[in-house]
Amino acid sequence: MPKLIVVNRSGEEQAVEGDVGLSVMEVIRDNGFDELLALCGGCCSCATCHVYVDPAFAGKLPEIGEDENDLLDSSDHRNETSRLSCQLTLNEDLDGLRVTIAPED
Ligand code: FES
Repeated sequence: MPKLIVVNRSGEEQAVEGDVGLSVMEVIRDNGFDELLALCGGCCSCATCHVYVDPAFAGKLPEIGEDENDLLDSSDHRNETSRLSCQLTLNEDLDGLRVTIAPED
């Protein structure tokens, strides 16, 4: 099972595992990180699953979609590593991925 390193808003790190095929959002949420609201449940319409992704994995991530890009633009905290975690599907290539939960908008 691929492993994720999740960094919460206090800077604390925790390693968690998730099934291939789940979204990164689902893995974070199912491991009890209540800072990640994921209000729309993964429909790419809320931006409350915003995370910063380790740049070392940039080439292994799916292209950013138009809806995702527009939603991220609405965040005051967007940076070049921003992604919506509901749009990232866990696979073996992402084993060891480090994601940081972005500040709340
Ligand atoms: S959970 Fe709403 S956009 Fe990701």
